[in-house]
Amino acid sequence: MKTILKTMGEQYGRRSWAEPWKIKMVEPIKVMTPQERRKCLEDAGYNTFLLRSEDVYIDLLTDSGTSSMSDRQWAGMMLGDEAYAGSRNFYRLEETIQRIYGYRYFVPTHQGRGAENLISQTLIKQGDVVPGNMYFTTTRLHQELAGGTFRDVVIEEAHDPANEHPFKGNVDLAKLERLIQEVGASRIPYVSLAGTVNMAGGQPVSMANVKALRALCDRYGIRLMLDATRMAENCFFIREREHGYRDKTVAEILKEFCSFTDGAWMSAKKDSLVNIGGWLAVNDGEVFEELRNLVVVYEGLHTYGGMAGRDMEALAIGTEESVQDNHIICRIGQVRYLGELLENWDIPIVKPVGGHAVFLDARKFYPHLSQDRFPAQTLASDIYLDSGVRSMERGIVSAGRDPETGHHRYPRLELVRLTLPRRVYTQSHIDVVAESVRSVWDRRHEAKGLEMTYEPRYLRFFQARFKPLS
Ligand code: F0G
Repeated sequence: MKTILKTMGEQYGRRSWAEPWKIKMVEPIKVMTPQERRKCLEDAGYNTFLLRSEDVYIDLLTDSGTSSMSDRQWAGMMLGDEAYAGSRNFYRLEETIQRIYGYRYFVPTHQGRGAENLISQTLIKQGDVVPGNMYFTTTRLHQELAGGTFRDVVIEEAHDPANEHPFKGNVDLAKLERLIQEVGASRIPYVSLAGTVNMAGGQPVSMANVKALRALCDRYGIRLMLDATRMAENCFFIREREHGYRDKTVAEILKEFCSFTDGAWMSAKKDSLVNIGGWLAVNDGEVFEELRNLVVVYEGLHTYGGMAGRDMEALAIGTEESVQDNHIICRIGQVRYLGELLENWDIPIVKPVGGHAVFLDARKFYPHLSQDRFPAQTLASDIYLDSGVRSMERGIVSAGRDPETGHHRYPRLELVRLTLPRRVYTQSHIDVVAESVRSVWDRRHEAKGLEMTYEPRYLRFFQARFKPLS
């Protein structure tokens, strides 16, 4: 079988890819006994967010803030200018973001949700409607807290794990236009576009889609705002799958994509290879004035926004590294390698494999468990019990409750995310992960599900507790 990885190798004129870095510093990790793991999971209320990192063998909870920094980034940390106002690192970062993403104005924040808070408060009024290509947990919550209601306008294919559409993150323009006609353009402050779409499996948006979206937004005078958290990864898929982009660099594609949008918010903890950081960037001077004013209320002065000077320096360097082609090829190649191992064993995953993670289809693992027995939460627990590999639920627990009815939201996707930190694990770690998932798959009929015993009010998946059903 001709694998996708091989295709990647051919495309770049080599037989295969390998990590474009070597290891200079190591951090030991430990393997525990099954009894020890059972005890840790009980203490954590069967929620992988509540495990101690020390009790985890291979940590695929998230790719957020978990990347390894390069020697250059660490060297940059020593150049931190920790002045309260006007740090030299701020100006370097501002220039870097303007050059790489192409927006006019820049505001730093401590991480993505800090930026989401500011943009939501600045643009959304009570009663507004915010259309987007599938919800993300923190993004939607900030839109709701600002008085808006989120409406999903992603293409239908995104809700079907088995559908192999190459751009499952695309907006359904007809759905969006119907919504505009239903509620009126004046109630839509902006379209919230994310590339790639995290909850759909790290699925990309095409250049053709963002162009058409721009034209539609222009017709109705609606802003188009981008969640740029994993846009560099999105651009790799454009180059791979969209006609006319084969010979462009990821950096060129990124700048072109952003040029169709009015601004962006960023969790720099992902693409940009840092452990903390975020930003907002816009082209509209009035919106910028408001953001730059609000940032001092919630984050810090507008020349640090919650980051230390050294963090801004590491972020400027990480941003440059994040759009290097050899980095992205290896990054996506590693995720794809894990996906292919599982696919070869007929283990149900979201297809095509996305940019940052492999998503297991928990409905197919445990068809005998109804959604209110939390199949994905159960699967994440079972994988930890098997091997100490930590993953994350992305199903009914993450979807939370409808603020109006108070009932669970029942998302069609009931998934477990195996998320790969950037530049952290080797191919042998990935082999261990795949073998563990396979062993859980082989025992799938034994699963009984979970019951929720504690539920916090906001973003419940972070802190909820469960116990096993017998
Ligand atoms: N937007 C997207 C698409 C995200 O994936 C995240 C975070 C945020 C915004 C918020 O950024 O964490 O810096 O405040 N995603 C993490 C994850 C938590 O594990 O997927 P943040």
